[in-house]
Amino acid sequence: MMKRVAVLASGRGSNFEALLDAVKAGALEANIALLLCDRREAPALKIAEKWKIPCFVVEGQPKQDPLQEQRMVEVLESHDIRFLVLAGYRRILSSGFIQSFRSPHGYARITNIHPSLLPAFPGLHSYQRAFEYGAKVTGVTVHLVDDGVDQGPICAQESFEISSCQTAEEVEQRGLEIEHRLYPETLNWILQENFDYRVERSRGVCTRRSSG
Ligand code: GRF
Repeated sequence: MMKRVAVLASGRGSNFEALLDAVKAGALEANIALLLCDRREAPALKIAEKWKIPCFVVEGQPKQDPLQEQRMVEVLESHDIRFLVLAGYRRILSSGFIQSFRSPHGYARITNIHPSLLPAFPGLHSYQRAFEYGAKVTGVTVHLVDDGVDQGPICAQESFEISSCQTAEEVEQRGLEIEHRLYPETLNWILQENFDYRVERSRGVCTRRSSG
């Protein structure tokens, strides 16, 4: 069964479009049924329009509007969404919200892509920070979302050399190329829940099953 997923994005939406391309090319088995966005001016909304994907915008600060996440849950439920795919979504989800996507196996059915080799450089501007730090290598991480910023069981990571990069933009460009391939690739087995999950030293561990 094709999983009905919602993509959550705040900005440019290049990962969102890469996922749509992958579905179209038959490289990702998913039904991207909704885009949820927290900014009315996000370019990701234009991409949704182009691809005729229904969008829903939830603006405002969740702390000032305790019903905001409730509205998000209602929209997601009314679209029968089974999995959330964060792609450049800059808002922190509350543990209550994450809880509403928790599977009986203990993990939440929410994924994120982060532009560093976590746990290095969590938070914003990670490619730039890796470049400015003088790191020789950085990378991309796909993980399941859990409480805490850029935390949660790691599903896939890919590193790349940045010592020859002259600018942070160059690092980002190389990173995005990897993101656009790695996210659909990894989502294929995550969405099928074709992994084992266990808690080890109070941390969730996600391991892809070798079969299937
Ligand atoms: C990407 O670098 C992603 O890893 C990070 O935010 C950026 C979003 O870019 N979480 P885009 O909106 O998908 O183009």
